[in-house]
Amino acid sequence: MEYITLNNGARMPALGFGTFGLAADGTAKRCVLAALRAGYRHIDTAHAYLNEREVGEAIRESGVRREDIWLTTKIWPTEYDDAEAAVDRALERLGVQYLDLVYLHHYLGDVKAGWKGLESAVRHGKVRSIGISNFERSDDYKSFFEGLEITPAIAQMERHIDFTPDAYVEDLKSRGISREAWFPLGGTVSQKAQLNLPEVLAVAKKHGKAGAQVLLRWQLQTGFSAVPGSANPEHIAENLNIFDFALDAEDLATLANANSNKRVFDVPLSAQTDMIMGFKFND
Ligand SMILES: NC(=O)c1ccc[n+]([C@@H]2O[C@H](COP(=O)([O-])OP(=O)(O)OC[C@H]3O[C@@H](n4cnc5c(N)ncnc54)[C@H](OP(=O)(O)O)[C@@H]3O)[C@@H](O)[C@H]2O)c1
Repeated sequence: MEYITLNNGARMPALGFGTFGLAADGTAKRCVLAALRAGYRHIDTAHAYLNEREVGEAIRESGVRREDIWLTTKIWPTEYDDAEAAVDRALERLGVQYLDLVYLHHYLGDVKAGWKGLESAVRHGKVRSIGISNFERSDDYKSFFEGLEITPAIAQMERHIDFTPDAYVEDLKSRGISREAWFPLGGTVSQKAQLNLPEVLAVAKKHGKAGAQVLLRWQLQTGFSAVPGSANPEHIAENLNIFDFALDAEDLATLANANSNKRVFDVPLSAQTDMIMGFKFND
C-alpha cells in the first residue's frame, strides 16, 4: 500500500474502496467484507449512499481492528445546520467511536455552518480529518476558505483519465489540501468505457496489467488518492493489486492523449440543487 500524508499529519491509505451504489440489501456488506478480506484498509461511504449500517456490520464481521481501517463518510447539505449532530448520527449508524474523515458532500446549503460543526466534531474527538467534496462545482467556492479554524485536509472530486479539473487542483495544492478522485474508473454509468480506451489497453498490455489497474496507478502517480467501487470480488481484488508496477513518462504521455476533459457526471450544480436539497433519508 502507498499512503498520503494529509496537512494534519494523518496517514491515509492512497487506495480505498468506494461504496456508492452498493445497496443495503446485503450487497454493501458483502462487498465491504470482500474488500477488507482482500486487504483494503480504507472505506469510503456517505450518508446519502444509505448503506452506512452495512458498512459498519462488515467492519465488525471482518475481524480487522477498527484502528487499522481508514473510515470516511460524508454529510449531506440538509444536515449542515447542525453538522456535529449529523456526525453523531453517522457514528451511530456505522457503530464506531470515531471517523477518520468526514466530508461536506456538496457545496450547497450553509457550508460555513457545516464546516464549523465539523471543526467542533474534531475538537470533541469524533472525527480526525475533515474535507470538502464537489466544491469545484460552485463558482464562488473560494470564499469558503476565509476565516476557517481548520483548513480542509482533502478534497474529493470527479477526476479520471478523461477529465482533470486542473485549475481547481492547482488551487488546492497552493492551500496544502490533498486530492482524492471519485469515478476513478469512469464511474458506474460509463459502461466501463475508460477501461477499454486504446491508450489504456496499450499501456496495460505493456505492463501485463488490466485497464482498471492502469487507471488506478495513473491516479496515484498523478498525485491523487482514489476510491474505486465494484460489486465483483474479482475486480475488488484486482483493483488493489497495483503496487508492483509503475507507469513511466512514455505511459503518462500516452494516457494524456485520452483526455478530452469531459465530465461523466455532466450536470451543473444549479440543476442538481432541488434533487440534493429534497433528498429523503430513511434514517
Ligand atoms: N463525492 C461524491 O459526490 C462521489 C460521487 C460518486 C462517487 N463517489 C465515490 O467514488 C467511488 C467510486 O465511484 P464509482 O464506484 O461510482 O465509479 P468507479 O469506481 O469509477 O467505477 C465503478 C465501475 O467500474 C467497474 N469496475 C470496477 N473495477 C473493475 C475492474 N477491475 N474491471 C472491470 N470493471 C471494473 C464496476 O463494475 P463491477 O461492479 O462489475 O466491478 C463499476 O461499474 C464511489 O463508490 C464513492 O465512494 C463520490
